[in-house]
Amino acid sequence: MLGAIRDWAESYTRTGKYSPVGVWFHWIMAGLALYQLYSGWRMSRLPVGGDKLAAYAQHSEIGFLILAMAILRGLWRLLVMDPTNDAQSPAWQRSAAEWTQLAFYGLFALLPLSGWCMWSAIQPAEPLSLAGIIPLPAMPFYDLSPAWQREVLDLARRLHLAGVVGLALLIPLHVGAALNHHFFARDDVVRGILPEIPDYETPEPEQVQQDPAPRAR
Ligand code: HEM
Repeated sequence: MLGAIRDWAESYTRTGKYSPVGVWFHWIMAGLALYQLYSGWRMSRLPVGGDKLAAYAQHSEIGFLILAMAILRGLWRLLVMDPTNDAQSPAWQRSAAEWTQLAFYGLFALLPLSGWCMWSAIQPAEPLSLAGIIPLPAMPFYDLSPAWQREVLDLARRLHLAGVVGLALLIPLHVGAALNHHFFARDDVVRGILPEIPDYETPEPEQVQQDPAPRAR
């Protein structure tokens, strides 16, 4: 089963493209991360009340979804190698790209985990769930003294904000590098991560219908 999945995915990676699974992981996570930055910024500025609480709950649900997707994406990467592209980038750019990807994974762990800590350090901790579907427990900080709970909250908040700044810096860097590949280096790096767009002008062989032979009069 795993072998068949890998063969299927490698039929794409051999041609320099990510498999549809890799492509959709990338774009869904990119969309969720951007939305999460916006939703975090917005909820911090809402006046105290029901709307703010609802925004916090939604923020945590999506944050956990990002954590779950980062784990699944990591496992998928262990199963299927990334495609080799035709970029002729210097070594420093290749290693910068690797570090950027690692930093994304690090931040997709740091942000949800520090958020989870913050949430659990405020007593009584409100219920938590992944995407509003799978209930998750609070971290066991209820036994700590109020002074320690404040310490945990403070540290977690600082880590969360550092993660937010890191992500907000990393995204333009990542997009800038992609634009550089596409418009200046003109290699196939960006094409590899774009979804396949069906080409209706070149029908599949089985769709090509033979014109009936002209009838003799
Ligand atoms: C990738 C995932 C996440 C991203 C990108 C993210 C992003 C943000 C942003 C942009 C802010 C606003 C910072 C500000 O303007 O002051 C914020 C605040 C906050 N986030 Fe997240 N977050 C994520 C995951 C989570 C999770 C999973 C939780 C809870 C379980 C959480 C709980 C909070 C809380 C409680 C605050 C308010 C911090 C404060 O009071 O200063 N976050 N987050």
